Amino acid sequence: MHIPKHLAIIMDGNGRWARNRQLPRLAGHARGVETVRTVVQECARLGVEYLTLYAFSSENWRRPGDEVSGLMSLLAAFLRSELASMQEYGIRLSAIGDLALLPEQSRRVLQETMEATASNDKMVLNLALSYGGRDEIIRAMASIGKKIETAQLSSLQIDEALICDHLDTRSLPDPDLLIRTSGEMRISNFLLWQIAYSELVFTDVLWPDFGVEELHRAIEEFSLRERRFGLTGDQLQTPET
Ligand code: FPP
Repeated sequence: MHIPKHLAIIMDGNGRWARNRQLPRLAGHARGVETVRTVVQECARLGVEYLTLYAFSSENWRRPGDEVSGLMSLLAAFLRSELASMQEYGIRLSAIGDLALLPEQSRRVLQETMEATASNDKMVLNLALSYGGRDEIIRAMASIGKKIETAQLSSLQIDEALICDHLDTRSLPDPDLLIRTSGEMRISNFLLWQIAYSELVFTDVLWPDFGVEELHRAIEEFSLRERRFGLTGDQLQTPET
């Protein structure tokens, strides 16, 4: 199995998982956190170097207030409870998105956990929080524009590398594989620039039901596609002798 260096996941279906059981939506998110734990640990075990999870989109702010505050509390509780295991597995926490919009308490625990794990080097757990791909691109363009206005940059210097350097993901390679759970076949404003060449795997399984087995299945599908990707059309038609 070829392990992706950077795996990105759209964790979808918590609400439906809860509705199927006549439970409040937050119970689905709480169960989703359990899946996050399992997936983070398995990715570290497998040797994934970067794991990006879409935990809260810039559009999610429009959800009912109690769901938003519940998600923020789950995030803070997760960071507190997982610190020991992040240290044990050598996981460094990072975050992308418009973090200034997060409530003070979530921002503080996020910052503390990033600082506490800063020297870990086995895997980067990158949380997309208050994140939108278009918003990220707008912020990058605004920052480049400002540098041009103040003559720190010339417009002639704008190229792919310069844009990458102004995105929130500047320190990360592009994802090799993007997984979305729950049967929806959309990108929903996630890593729009960065997934230009990523393999996409969609599964019908709802995020709270996603587990080690499903993760392996998605990575196996990725391995298979990559093997094809490395061959020329002629090689695919002529079996090896
Ligand atoms: C999508 O399900 C999921 C989210 C909007 C939030 C994802 C959050 C978690 C898994 C828990 C918190 C995260 C961390 C990293 C601790 P949905 O509510 O859109 O599901 P639905 O489409 O079935 O309604």
